[in-house]
Amino acid sequence: MIRAENLTKRYDGILALDGLTFEVHEGELLALLGPNGAGKTTTLRLLLGLISPTSGRIWIAGEPMTPGSHGLRRRIGYLPETPGFWERLPAWKNLEIYARLYGVPAPRSRVMALLEQFGLADRAHDPVATFSRGMRQRLALARALIHDPPILLLDEPTAGLDPEAALEVRERLRALKGQGRTILLCTHDLEEAERLGDRVAILRTRLLALDTPDRLRAQRFGVVVAIELDGDPEPYLPRVQGQPGVIQAALRNGRLEIQVTDLRAVTPNLVRSLVEAGAPILSVTPVKASLEELYLQIIREGRGPGESG
Ligand SMILES: Nc1ncnc2c1ncn2[C@@H]1O[C@H](COP(=O)(O)OP(=O)(O)O)[C@@H](O)[C@H]1O
Ligand SMILES: [Mg+2]
Repeated sequence: MIRAENLTKRYDGILALDGLTFEVHEGELLALLGPNGAGKTTTLRLLLGLISPTSGRIWIAGEPMTPGSHGLRRRIGYLPETPGFWERLPAWKNLEIYARLYGVPAPRSRVMALLEQFGLADRAHDPVATFSRGMRQRLALARALIHDPPILLLDEPTAGLDPEAALEVRERLRALKGQGRTILLCTHDLEEAERLGDRVAILRTRLLALDTPDRLRAQRFGVVVAIELDGDPEPYLPRVQGQPGVIQAALRNGRLEIQVTDLRAVTPNLVRSLVEAGAPILSVTPVKASLEELYLQIIREGRGPGESG
């Protein structure tokens, strides 16, 4: 649905994006992660055709995006990093202006339906200046949807919101995903990325990783099972290390932490062997690295020599 090929963007001397190639499939939500200055906003602006790449190509729904692709832009809804409104105009009027810009049929009723959907109907006639951050963000989402686009580019929609307001926005994102829309979501919230994202991309000028969180974990950390014993686990370590399917085993947090090739295939034999040796097993738990651990490791590896922060 969205395809970028070898996208590079330089601003004056600054290399903001270097050879980015990726795809967002139809109906997929791809979470785009990366530190400040990683090139996330630049990527969205390129996909939208607001700026042109220094080199590289973009396809939206199979069509090449070029500076004159106004038709293509209509298929995309955009939530900018800092959405601007006509502050003194009422919320409904802000949306109606966009509805008319996009030539939406029956703009007034479309606007009211969206305000209803986003929990803003009772504030429709209040100026946007009186809105809280959470309300503004929901209004910005409603605006991105005014022309019912199949593709959404969302730039940190939950940034700076309190937990409750963030949750409300997140629930609406989940609903949008449920409607089969194709969504590229920039976020700093790793839990949000994991919960909502079908796949996650980690960007730092270059694309450092792109896959499902589980596959990224498996590639980086393998599969780890922790076995807790009643007493000192150390005497059992050599036995565990000799088992088929065990990549490595160590004592950590008072438990045996065992990296295995495959949880299902290896764990039962491992447990059987320990029981045969008389090990008093209290618990057997698969260990999942957090997306945060994964993210930090990938970002650190992606940092070139001499770079910091
Ligand atoms: N209009 C611009 N002019 C010059 N440099 C810019 C401009 N926009 C972004 N940059 C630079 O490009 C890099 C990527 O920025 P950006 O895409 O905003 O990153 P992110 O959204 O991931 O924080 C940063 O180094 C930023 O300073
Ligand atoms: Mg940004």
